[in-house]
Amino acid sequence: MTQVTPQAFEISPEQVPSLKQEPERGELSGYLEQAGLVYFPTSPVELPSPEDVLFLRDVTPEYHKRKNISYYPTAKRVNGMGGTQELRDRAARILSGHHERVEAFLTQVLPTFANNWTSGTCSLRAFEEKDRAIDERKKSDLVHIDAGAYGATRGDSILRFLTNIDPEGERVWRVKGTVNELVDRYGEELGMRDQQLLREGPLDKLRHGLVSGLSTIYPLARSLDSSPYDRAMRRIHNHMKADREFQSSPDGAAELRFRSGSAWIVFADRTGHSCTSGRLCLIDTFIIRRASFKHGELSPYEILRRFSAGSNS
Ligand SMILES: [Fe+2]
Repeated sequence: MTQVTPQAFEISPEQVPSLKQEPERGELSGYLEQAGLVYFPTSPVELPSPEDVLFLRDVTPEYHKRKNISYYPTAKRVNGMGGTQELRDRAARILSGHHERVEAFLTQVLPTFANNWTSGTCSLRAFEEKDRAIDERKKSDLVHIDAGAYGATRGDSILRFLTNIDPEGERVWRVKGTVNELVDRYGEELGMRDQQLLREGPLDKLRHGLVSGLSTIYPLARSLDSSPYDRAMRRIHNHMKADREFQSSPDGAAELRFRSGSAWIVFADRTGHSCTSGRLCLIDTFIIRRASFKHGELSPYEILRRFSAGSNS
């Protein structure tokens, strides 16, 4: 099967003001919905100060307790970081400030997406991604689509705003395939030609009710949620990473190099991507409601629904 290469769309600093008006901002959301990637060679969002960048690069690696350090706006706290309260407070201040600036920018250029969205984490990637010694399913250097952010999205979509804050180095991605092609490629062998694929059973509804209640007290409890949709996306994610032929073949693959101080936006559950090298990046996540899409038929949920009902994407 031939894979289509996801397309990148570059926006210069001079073009940024026009993004805040129609029709450009409508084009921007449409482009993202079509699994395109939007690249800003110069970040349209102010970066953390040079001192704060050096703190993130040189001080925080020693205090990582998990794959990443993440700031949760709802809980107003940093997760995955040890060290003193003072260090954690400084990290929280830097990541929350960046997240607020990203949120303000996206609200201006993607107002329909911002309607009722979930403003998720600001996550720090402070280690070199190339050949990072972690579990294969968690590795970022194998091409994948993202699945199940914060437990379950139930068909809402995962928008990520990424900023290369490494003062010296590029961040390099390899992109390959879009979600509709990947469903066509793997759907049969993963048993997704099944009318029940996206149907929530009593256990799903019970779990969702419990997690929703619990998350009003403990926001991080959301990560315990799950749904048939999110499990289907997770199966594709895992299958792609384990498919050696898909990973190694140059068919449909392209390399994208994001320079220091640049930023890019992508629906990470629509565009096949991997990070092959790069060591200092901030990733801000927003969960966009399915009802906010202009082209609902392009959403992963609708693609899976059509496939499960017997038609190709
Ligand atoms: Fe990813």
